[in-house]
Amino acid sequence: MLQPPIAFISQLSAQDQQCWLEQLRAALPGEQILPAQAMSAEQRSHCDIAIVANPDPAELRRFPALQWIQSLWAGVERLVAELDNPPFNIVRLVDPYLAQTMAEAVLAWTLYLHRDMPAYARQQQQKHWQQLPCIPASQRSVGILGLGELGRLSAQRLADNGFIVSGWSRSPKQIPGVTCYDGDPGLKTLLAESQILICLLPLTQQTRGMIDTGTLARLPRGASLINFARGPLVRSTDLLDALHSGQLSHAVLDVFDQEPLPPDSPLWQHPKITVLPHISAPTPMESATRVVAANIRRYRQSGEQPAAVDTRRGY
Ligand code: NDP
Ligand code: OXD
Repeated sequence: MLQPPIAFISQLSAQDQQCWLEQLRAALPGEQILPAQAMSAEQRSHCDIAIVANPDPAELRRFPALQWIQSLWAGVERLVAELDNPPFNIVRLVDPYLAQTMAEAVLAWTLYLHRDMPAYARQQQQKHWQQLPCIPASQRSVGILGLGELGRLSAQRLADNGFIVSGWSRSPKQIPGVTCYDGDPGLKTLLAESQILICLLPLTQQTRGMIDTGTLARLPRGASLINFARGPLVRSTDLLDALHSGQLSHAVLDVFDQEPLPPDSPLWQHPKITVLPHISAPTPMESATRVVAANIRRYRQSGEQPAAVDTRRGY
């Protein structure tokens, strides 16, 4: 039986969209994958799968037969928020290679903080020669908020590198070499012992703004923060206050309330903030294509859809 075409719906540049289409078509030669704008009303009316990257929700509503949409991004917070109770499932990208990329970024920026690189950069600017105490990884405690696809592997990577690692999630977990906490009391314990706090939580109604003055005050004085998840998890004004008071010594931020970060943001030039342009774990096109193609092939063969986001829970 002839399968309905698959829609590709994105707000990517024409060049990026073309690259994705070429990769996906090569990986799924039996499928017709078409940009949404090139599909006829008849094709739209039968289309059951869409591959999406930051799609316009209004565009998705023009596909009445959609059963599921496959995101090319791991985080689908914006989609979940904008698509109020959609009649189709939202499948996010779960790609082991992307998790490796994130674990590498977590290790790199943890080492940056652990080995005092912000302080040495300041000293160099001031032509100031001073050796700071070198603390072994085995005496540095790192806490990770979120032990999902990305947090779990990142925690393991840090533990493999000798750090004292703890993690926090909604449900209880067991990860070799990592002390796992859940629930409110668990969060308080983790915060109290984290010299470096790393955020890898999804942005939901429960987590929005949760890194605020109260949360930061529970960290040991002079702790550092890495946010690789979503900007609005952190209250920027509270973060600035904590940096000003010395409660926090440095923050590495890869994600922001508004991206690109506006030129007039005070975060750009703050001496205790490292600004990264959302690069901790970019979607790897080749492996993501393999994951998406496998999901679609399985669905075509067995009717089985990939695991979907729980839209009520928000992730
Ligand atoms: P997952 O859904 O696999 O994991 C989420 C984790 O957070 C789970 O451990 C979950 O707990 C925990 N969690 C969620 N809500 C709560 C809560 N209220 N209290 C305690 N724990 C909670 O997500 P991923 O690991 O794949 O991704 C995490 C986020 O990383 C994405 O949502 C996205 O925002 C961000 N991201 C950033 C990228 C970048 O380049 N900067 C790239 C890709 C993703 P439980 O296990 O119990 O469900
Ligand atoms: C993602 C991201 O969600 O890059 O994949 O943030």
